[in-house]
Amino acid sequence: MTRALYPGTFDPITNGHLDIIQRASQLFGVVDVVVAVNTRKTSLFSVEERLEMIRECTRHIPNVEVLSHAGLMVDCLRKRNAQVLLRGLRAVSDFEYEFQMALMNKKLDPVCETVYLMPSEKYTYLASSLVRELAGLGGDISEFVPAVVEARLRRKLSGSEGV
Ligand code: COA
Repeated sequence: MTRALYPGTFDPITNGHLDIIQRASQLFGVVDVVVAVNTRKTSLFSVEERLEMIRECTRHIPNVEVLSHAGLMVDCLRKRNAQVLLRGLRAVSDFEYEFQMALMNKKLDPVCETVYLMPSEKYTYLASSLVRELAGLGGDISEFVPAVVEARLRRKLSGSEGV
């Protein structure tokens, strides 16, 4: 059984991420969605909040597990006994960064294979930061995130849930 890790910041999870998770769940035995505890990015939602949202949105997919990891993703790969790192490739602009990351991960652990899925066309321009900006400016985000995430974002941005 192949176990794939799908790492990211997920601040918050969007329909683009869910599209990848849904499709990957049909290709791999288990998909571990891993919230990377990332010191380079400041996040709106805490790691715990991001995990909760991902769990709620993926509850209907039986072979998806959700966890967080601080440190190298190849260490998480080994710990979970996974073989594949899964990433979405949205546009040419993603390529260079992904290429570097895949090669570095392969160098760190030769067993690690990075597999890319193209998101559905309608999500190729989507990013969590755009969703946060749109929500902050009062725009309609219902097309881009699940309802639970939309409600959480609204609460967070209205200040009723301390940032
Ligand atoms: N649909 C919509 N948006 C998507 C998407 C998809 N399918 N795939 C990616 N994105 C967006 C994200 O929302 C995010 O948007 P934002 O930057 O506006 O917030 C952006 O693309 C980047 O995505 P993300 O997938 O979260 O990746 P990342 O670059 O934040 O995370 C890690 C990269 C966490 C996987 C990587 O840094 C990592 O593995 N870190 C651990 C340390 C390590 O091992 N480093 C590598 C070797 S040195």
